[in-house]
Amino acid sequence: MSKYEIKTLVNHDDKTALEKKHVPHIIAPDKVKKGELFEVTVQMGNEIDHPMEEGHFIQYVELYAEYFQLARVDFTPEVKAEATLQIKLEESCTLRAFESCNLHGQWEASKEITVE
Ligand SMILES: [Fe+2]
Repeated sequence: MSKYEIKTLVNHDDKTALEKKHVPHIIAPDKVKKGELFEVTVQMGNEIDHPMEEGHFIQYVELYAEYFQLARVDFTPEVKAEATLQIKLEESCTLRAFESCNLHGQWEASKEITVE
């Protein structure tokens, strides 16, 4: 794997321990109304909570609509690595979450959102 490659879930049916801890879990509706706020929760990780301790923690999570940045939440080891945000979208898009672990690098997850 290239140093600059963003890591993500490789096989949905056979997640590795690292993937379970690091791939963001995006909870959001499949369909939303144009321009209306809806709730998005991003959990780190997927099935297993990532440790949050000095020396090993999730530094931040960023939320994008395609490649347009919507939000960024920074964490310290004192905080559960989870964020709930109210967002609105103007058109259907891929919602992307990028998270960074200080030891294990950057990970991505995405979810298609249909805007009606
Ligand atoms: Fe980690």
